[in-house]
Amino acid sequence: MPDAAPEPATFHHFIAGRWVASTSGQTFDSVNPADTRDVVGRFQLGARADVAMAVRAAGDAFAVWKATPAPKRGELLYRFGALMAEHKERLARAMTREMGKVLAEARGDVQEGIDIAFLMAGEGRRMFGDTVPSELPDKWAMSIRQPVGIAGIITPWNFPIAIPCWKMMPALVAGNTVVFKPASDAPHCATLLVELMDEAGFPPGVVNLVTGSGAEIGDAIVDDPDVGVISFTGSSATGRAIAERAGRRLKRLSLELGGKNAVVVLRDADLDLAVDGILWSAFGTTGQRCTACSRVVADRPIADELVRRLAERAERLSLGSGLDETVDVGPLVNAPAVDKVASYVAIGRGEGELVTGGERETGDACAHGHFYQPTIFTGVGPMSRIAQEEIFGPVLSVIPVDGYAEAVMAANSVRYGLSASIFTRDVNSAFRAMRDFETGIVYVNAGTTGAETHLPFGGWKETGNGHREAGHAALDTFTEWKAVYVDYSGRLQRAQIDNQPS
Ligand code: UN1
Repeated sequence: MPDAAPEPATFHHFIAGRWVASTSGQTFDSVNPADTRDVVGRFQLGARADVAMAVRAAGDAFAVWKATPAPKRGELLYRFGALMAEHKERLARAMTREMGKVLAEARGDVQEGIDIAFLMAGEGRRMFGDTVPSELPDKWAMSIRQPVGIAGIITPWNFPIAIPCWKMMPALVAGNTVVFKPASDAPHCATLLVELMDEAGFPPGVVNLVTGSGAEIGDAIVDDPDVGVISFTGSSATGRAIAERAGRRLKRLSLELGGKNAVVVLRDADLDLAVDGILWSAFGTTGQRCTACSRVVADRPIADELVRRLAERAERLSLGSGLDETVDVGPLVNAPAVDKVASYVAIGRGEGELVTGGERETGDACAHGHFYQPTIFTGVGPMSRIAQEEIFGPVLSVIPVDGYAEAVMAANSVRYGLSASIFTRDVNSAFRAMRDFETGIVYVNAGTTGAETHLPFGGWKETGNGHREAGHAALDTFTEWKAVYVDYSGRLQRAQIDNQPS
């Protein structure tokens, strides 16, 4: 009898503390992008009715969770972070298998989840408001944070542990309950995460997981009048559609969308350091980071030498399964991602000079996966399409300019504003760039990736809608401010009136 592939394991939604099948009776498969013959698992193709159940469970759990003292909520986050640390290697391997990033980066992704869990666990004992003097005597004035209610968490596949944690940890410590919809390319990571949350002891209904398509599940979460806040990371097109739906309901919404992040290399830069930083930011996670460097703005005197060194190093990067620790660059997430990269490379051939790459990779280690060669164009104009549009793959455009002012103008001439970096040895140029870049994150003498969880993460312009994740700023998304006045004078005191000269 020929060997039949074993049936993949089937996974379920998590609603009201129980693992349950979808009312749709349908499933979808998650496959390994480095070898599509490897099916990671079978997941519930959720329906609107599933979301309604999850929202009801989150609503039922809210009263008890909100009344749980925040330091006690924080202790559960701490326990969950410790469990992630204990299972770090297992989570990292599952991540590499499901979405392709190399193991070292997958470990970093899990670590970022642990870091935010511990940071937010501490917020259980802080969650500062303001206590300020009143303008009237014998009167107390302060502001406190309270949970919004039910948080809808819609996450991408490129940081399948870190980003759900960035969103769920502040939501939960602040007293919200959660309905979590992960990307269809990474439902296994989400399931493993929620299994650990269950083990950590979050009460039933505090965290609910519903898998399925964005069109069905994502829209149902956004439309549900009982969901008070939505946090979404993903494409600008989807973010815009969510914003329109949420706007009609005046719903609070935090968006983290695209990026077109530039590294500026001035003529006085340490070129070896710049090459290291650019390669790491451009081709790490196969270019599939919101923070990926997709543009190098190169000062003309060093541009040719920089391109030569970048190409030489890019050609030495090895491609293959990220589970092989000698591999530098893993696959793209799926076939449409490869097609998108290929279509932008075709556009790029008409806009700049192809220096290296430019083809799908189909060699032995890559024969069954979604691989594309690290690709570099030079002589690219700052307003050309490959320098303007987010490709989300291993494609780097080098834009030659003359001097600092032109460099900053080119760096800022995009609709996005997530991160930017400058390589220079001149302290004045470094400080000018910190001031001049129109981005939420600035790096000096490092690439455009590598944000740490205790600082605000997010972007200007069309990268988002003004909210920030991580740091204490994350609490602003998931809390309502309440201003409280206590008058202990025993008489009516009118603000703005009774303290004025008569
Ligand atoms: C993302 O690409 O959506 O700074 C997040 C970084 C990572 C997070 C990236 N710490 O690149």
